Amino acid sequence: MSPGPGDGVVGDDLRVRVPPLKCQGIKTKLVPAISRYLDRDPEGVWIEPFLGSGVVVLNILPQKAILADTNPHMIRFYQAIQDGEIDGQKTRVFLEREGSRLATGGEEHYYRVRERFNSYGCPLDFLFLNRSCFNGVVRFNSKGHFNVPYGHKPQRFAPAYITKIVNQVEGFSAATRMLDWSFVCQDFQKTIQDAASRDFVYCDPPYVGRHVDYYHPWDERQENRLYGSLKNTRARFMLSTWHSNRHRENRFIQELWSEFPILTQEHFYHVGAYEKNRKPMLEAIITNYQPTNSVKEPVREVEQFILLEKEAGYVPAVDSPLASQGNR
Ligand SMILES: C[S@@+](CC[C@H](N)C(=O)[O-])C[C@H]1O[C@@H](n2cnc3c(N)ncnc32)[C@H](O)[C@@H]1O
Repeated sequence: MSPGPGDGVVGDDLRVRVPPLKCQGIKTKLVPAISRYLDRDPEGVWIEPFLGSGVVVLNILPQKAILADTNPHMIRFYQAIQDGEIDGQKTRVFLEREGSRLATGGEEHYYRVRERFNSYGCPLDFLFLNRSCFNGVVRFNSKGHFNVPYGHKPQRFAPAYITKIVNQVEGFSAATRMLDWSFVCQDFQKTIQDAASRDFVYCDPPYVGRHVDYYHPWDERQENRLYGSLKNTRARFMLSTWHSNRHRENRFIQELWSEFPILTQEHFYHVGAYEKNRKPMLEAIITNYQPTNSVKEPVREVEQFILLEKEAGYVPAVDSPLASQGNR
């Protein structure tokens, strides 16, 4: 399954498959780094206790996966795609109808859908809100009500945008049909404790010590619980967290995680709607195995290419760039 029309390009022109839902902390830009340092048994189960948008599993495409989150609406949405309650066509019809109501009713219509969603929890209403709310944030109040304000874009659901979302729904739907994935709404501790030694656990919890509202709060107690679960797991794990930014460091890196190998990578973290509010952040990838870069260096690829050309009996012309590399 290669990336399709609903997908995006991240650094180095690498194409990344994009899921239909967005959330704060979405790992679209880190997918290449995550996949580069995975070391998993393809026969084992891919376990993701903090599924969020699902962008990581959608790019890894494991044969068997357990995908969990405590946010019932994210899980319900992907279950609805999996069992066919939502497909590309139904998404298109729904977004065309609600999008044209948004174009005329604006803010009033957005809040009508939000109220409806908070009463009935319909997955397509969730998609509508997710794609038209302020900044694509997923945030609920203590009563479990979605409380993100209107994004002030009445023309949000233009035909090209609807087509993009429809493609993303179809991409996710194809993956759930071809592969053996289960979606469960449960706390991470239960998800991790069921992991066997051949499984691989990829954890991306809310960033500790930073203000991010998801469905349940994430604090020091949760981070300690996660440490306990991961320390005791028989499976391999990879944990994504934040390392530091210009102003401060994540103290839990030293206090909890320093016994494990830690890799870091810089990326830009959105803290608001404006470009100027994008702050550089050092991300950390923590593993309970020695991570090695599984992607071949470009020079190795050139060597490989030369080798294949040689095997095919091809002798490059003297002015070919390959000629200077000794292939004559
Ligand atoms: C950083 S987001 C995951 C982002 C995801 N990797 C992506 O790229 O879209 C963290 C997720 O953890 C979930 N979460 C928070 N507390 C949890 C808990 N105790 N158990 C399981 N999931 C939890 C939140 O609902 C949220 O979806």
